[in-house]
Amino acid sequence: MTTVKKRDFLKFTDLSLDEHLGLFRRAAQLKEARRQHRVVRTMAGRTLTMIFEKASTRTRLSFEAAMLQLGGSCIDLSAQNSQMSRGEPLADTARVTGRYCDVVMMRTSADARIEEFAVHCEVPVINGLTDGGHPVQILTDLFTIEEKLGPVKGKTLAFVGDTGSNMGRSFSRATSLFGFKLRLASPEGYHPPSEVVEEGAPGAVQLLRDPKEAVRDADVVITDVWTSMGQEAESAKRLKELSSYQVTPELMKLAAPHALFLHCLPAHREEEVTASVIDGPQSVVWDEAENRLHVQKALLEYLVLENEERWSYGAR
Ligand code: CP
Ligand code: NVA
Repeated sequence: MTTVKKRDFLKFTDLSLDEHLGLFRRAAQLKEARRQHRVVRTMAGRTLTMIFEKASTRTRLSFEAAMLQLGGSCIDLSAQNSQMSRGEPLADTARVTGRYCDVVMMRTSADARIEEFAVHCEVPVINGLTDGGHPVQILTDLFTIEEKLGPVKGKTLAFVGDTGSNMGRSFSRATSLFGFKLRLASPEGYHPPSEVVEEGAPGAVQLLRDPKEAVRDADVVITDVWTSMGQEAESAKRLKELSSYQVTPELMKLAAPHALFLHCLPAHREEEVTASVIDGPQSVVWDEAENRLHVQKALLEYLVLENEERWSYGAR
């Protein structure tokens, strides 16, 4: 079999800045089309397979809705009810999945696992969250910031709390393409590892202890849960160690007057953020959640249609 060249989206930097900006333009068109109830059927006849090895609400809904609204279809391959849970090698699952569908979205723990899957799967693989990143969420978050405040280049984003989470890691990597400053405020042991920070633009990612210093005059304030999926056994320790990193109205007052509040959700009100902030006027979390649909439609179109240009069954 000839090796088929295809593009994956496993981490934010798998696409260039121009490609990301192209996705933003297309996402805006698709958002407008939906507002006007115009039907777009660019995925007609194509199938997305979704593999979830961790829980999800938004990722599951937004990918399935995206594919169905674009005229395609979607298969949810539950890891528990498939041969994956009975020890079939991941590489074999990847090989056969690629023979049935046009694109795969996978949510799992170890980055090595999705990388192994992608190596053996002949169609594009999208990272729907791993321990090391959440690139479709960051893509959406940057789109949402640009929609509300204009180009993210030159802006200051402050991330407060568990900045070593998959969200903090993907935001750090994104500085290498988008030219924004990122201030990460965390207690000791909760920042991203140095090799991830080094993947960002030189000097763009500032590691801080003090949340006030991080948010001062920032354009965007971001947080994430203190206990990510898979860390439940450490929950009590995390609650204690992160308790002074809550995003409160007092903290938001230190940011720029136009500052937005972002959270990928699910949120734990009165832990990482007060209800008054997440449900308050600066919060854009519902638009952020909605935008997953439009941005992922653009990503699916880009990866699938670009892949088809290179792919012919005759190559097998
Ligand atoms: N933000 C996000 O990915 O949400 P889910 O875990 O519900 O998919
Ligand atoms: N950091 C969170 C993000 C959830 C979308 C987690 O991994 O659980």
